[in-house]
Amino acid sequence: MNVRNLQWMLTMLVSSCIPLWLSAQTLDDATIYRKADSLIALMTLEEKVNMIHASSSFTSGGVPRLGIPELVMSDGPHGVRMEHGRGWTELHVDDSVTYLPVGVCLAATWNPQLGYAFGTVLGSEANARGRDVILGPGICVIRTPLNGRNFEYMSEDPYLISKMVVGYIQGVQSQGIAACVKHYLANNQETDRFTINVDMPERALQEIYLPGFKAAVQQGNVLTLMGAYNKFRGQYCTENAYLIHNILKSQLGFKGLVMSDWGAVHNTMEALMNGTDLEMGTDLSMLPNPDYHKFFMGDTVISLVKRGIVPESVIDEKVRRILYVMYKVHKFDSLRPKGVRNTPEHQAIALKVAKEGIVLLKNDQHLLPFNVKKIKTIAVIGASADWKNARAGGSSQVPALFEITPLQGIRDLVGNRVRVVYASGYRIARDFHADPAMIQQAVEAARKADIVIYVGGWIHGYSDAWDDNAFDAEGVDKPDMYLPFDQDTLIKAVLKANPRTAIVLMGGGPVDMTRWIDQASAIVQAWYPGMEGGKALAEILFGLVNPSGKLPMTFPKTLADNPTARFDSYPGKQGFEYYSEGLFVGYRYYDTYHVQPQFCFGHGLSYTTFAYEQLQIEKSGPDSVTVRFTLRNTGSMAGAEVAQVYVHEEQPRMVRPEKELKGFQKVFLQPGESRTVTIRLPRSAFSYFDDHRMQWVMDPARFDILIGSSSEDIRLKGQVDFE
Ligand code: BGC
Repeated sequence: MNVRNLQWMLTMLVSSCIPLWLSAQTLDDATIYRKADSLIALMTLEEKVNMIHASSSFTSGGVPRLGIPELVMSDGPHGVRMEHGRGWTELHVDDSVTYLPVGVCLAATWNPQLGYAFGTVLGSEANARGRDVILGPGICVIRTPLNGRNFEYMSEDPYLISKMVVGYIQGVQSQGIAACVKHYLANNQETDRFTINVDMPERALQEIYLPGFKAAVQQGNVLTLMGAYNKFRGQYCTENAYLIHNILKSQLGFKGLVMSDWGAVHNTMEALMNGTDLEMGTDLSMLPNPDYHKFFMGDTVISLVKRGIVPESVIDEKVRRILYVMYKVHKFDSLRPKGVRNTPEHQAIALKVAKEGIVLLKNDQHLLPFNVKKIKTIAVIGASADWKNARAGGSSQVPALFEITPLQGIRDLVGNRVRVVYASGYRIARDFHADPAMIQQAVEAARKADIVIYVGGWIHGYSDAWDDNAFDAEGVDKPDMYLPFDQDTLIKAVLKANPRTAIVLMGGGPVDMTRWIDQASAIVQAWYPGMEGGKALAEILFGLVNPSGKLPMTFPKTLADNPTARFDSYPGKQGFEYYSEGLFVGYRYYDTYHVQPQFCFGHGLSYTTFAYEQLQIEKSGPDSVTVRFTLRNTGSMAGAEVAQVYVHEEQPRMVRPEKELKGFQKVFLQPGESRTVTIRLPRSAFSYFDDHRMQWVMDPARFDILIGSSSEDIRLKGQVDFE
C-alpha cells in the first residue's frame, strides 16, 4: 500500500467516526424544539421577521439581543466560493480552497463512499471559512444536453442521483455544516430560468424528478433546501403550494428550512402561506446598500401580521425551522468539529474523485494506455489543455489553491524523459473560426510526434468575468451540441496527421462527435475534474490508473436524437415548457424508442476485462429479491467495475420504460480475483407511480432482472414472478 492510499484510508476512518461522535453530542429534536420555542416566545414580531429574510448577500438575519447569530452561507457544489462582502463585492483575501471535480464527475464515479468523502471536504472547508451552510448539492435531472448547468448536476437517472446525493449530504453534515439541496424543482434549463413555467405528467414528477430530493430528505436528512427560480404548474417553485407545502413538508416530512434561490420570491402571501422559510437574494440594483427590509418577506410581513391577515404562528413556524438548523449546525454550542482547508487529505479526495470519475469512452486497438517508455515526443493539442476552469461557470466558481491543467499533468508525469510539444490549435474567444495557421501548426506537431493527446471540449466561459460566461455556465444554455471554436475541423486534421491520437473532452456533457468519431481510436470524457484533474487524467492516459468511471447520462449521436428535441419541447415556447417526453428521459427514451446513442448510459471502459457469472435470484420477501452473482477480473491489470442491475417489467399494466436502474455496486478487483456481489431489490425496485390512484403500485407480474456493465452491455439475465 502506498502512502497516498494509507492517507486516504486514515481520512475515511477518521471522518466516518465523526458522525458517531457528533450524534452522541447533538441535541435530540424534542430538546431543540423546546429550546427554539422558548427563544421564539422572547422575540418581538420585528425580530422574527428579521430572521426570515437575508441580511446580506449570504447571511440570514439574527437577533443580537437574544444571542441569535446570522446563518452564514456559501456556494457551492464543488468548492467554497470566493469571499464576498456584505454587499456583493468580492473581497481580496486569502480564500483559497480545495477545488473538487464537478457534480457530474462525482456521479460518474458511481461510488457513494466518494460522495461522502467529497461532502466531508466541502463541510470542513466551509467551516474553516466561517460558513454554516454550503449551497450544494445540485441535483436537477439532466434532461437536455444543452442545459448550461448540467456540469453541476449529477445524472439523468433518479436512482443514481439518489445514491450519490445521500453520501454527499451526510459527508457535509458530518462536519456540523448544513448542506442545501437545489434547485427544487425542474430547473432543467437556464434559458428563461427566472420566468419559465414548467409542467410535466404527474408520473414524470414522481418517478424522475422527485426521487433525488426525496432521498436527500429522507435518507440524507438534508437540513436546507433551495427553491428553484422557475415556475411549476403556474406558481414559482420557491413558493409553490404543491411542491413545498404538500410534497416536501407534508408528505416527505422535511424538517429543515426552505430558502429561496437568490431573488426567487415574487409574492409575499404565496411565500408565507406555501412554505418558504427564508428569502435570500441581493437586489443588485440597490448596491452597495441593499435594504433587505424591503424584501417580499421583510417589512410587509410585519404589517400583514399586525393587520390580522397572516397569523403570527406562520412566522413562528419559519423561525422554528431556522432555529432548528442553527441548533443542528452548533450555532449555540461549541461542538462543531474544527474545519480545515487546503490539506493534503482534501486534495487526495479531489484526486481520487477525478481518477474514478473520468470515463474512457472508446479504446480501439488498445491505443490507451500509452507506454511512456516507448515514446520520445508527445504533441499536446487543444486550448483546454492549458486552460483553468475553477473560477468560472457562475455561482459554483471556486478560488482554487491550485489547478493542475492537463498539459501540466502530462508534463509532470513524463518528466524529462519525453519531449512535450504544445499547440493550442484554436483560441478560446467569442466567434473564433478555424485559423489555417493554427491548424497547420497543430498538424505539424501531430505529424512529428509519436502520440498525440488532444484536449478540447466545452469550457465555462471566455474569461473570469461573469458576463462572459458561456457554454457550461449558469444563466445560459448551450446553443447546440457541436464543439465550440470550430474544433471539429481541427480534430479531423489532427486525426488525419496522426491516428495515434487520444481525444480528451472536457465539459458537462456530450458533444456531437459524428464528424470524426470513426477516425478516432481513443476518446476520454474528463468533465471538469477539479484541481488535481490534470494529474488524474495523465495517470489514466499512461496507465498508472485504470479508468473506472461510467457515464451518468446518455451521450446521443446528435442533438436531434435527444427526446426533448424529438418531442419538440425544449426550449419552451412563450414562457411555457411541457415535458412531453414524460418518463422517457435519457436511456429510458433511447432504449424504449430504439434510438442508438453514441455512448449509452452506464458506459465506461477499463484496461482490464470483467466476467459476470453464476447469477442467483432469490425472493427475500413477498415483494423483494436478492440478486447474487460473481464478478471476476479476467484481465491483467487491477481495476474496478460498476456492476449495474436493471429491472424490466414484462407486460406492465401502465406504460413503463424498457428498463430502469435499480441497483449497482462498484467492485475493485486484482487480476484473477473474483467476488460475489449481492444486491437487494426492494419493493420500490419493481413499483411505478399510478397517477390515477396517486400512489406507488407494484403489479403482480413477471420481471426481468438484467445485470451488466452498462445499460446496453447486459451480461446476465434472470426472471422473477410476483403474484
Ligand atoms: C444560483 C444558486 C446559487 C445562488 C447564490 C443563484 O443564482 O442559482 O445556485 O446558490 O445564486 O449564489
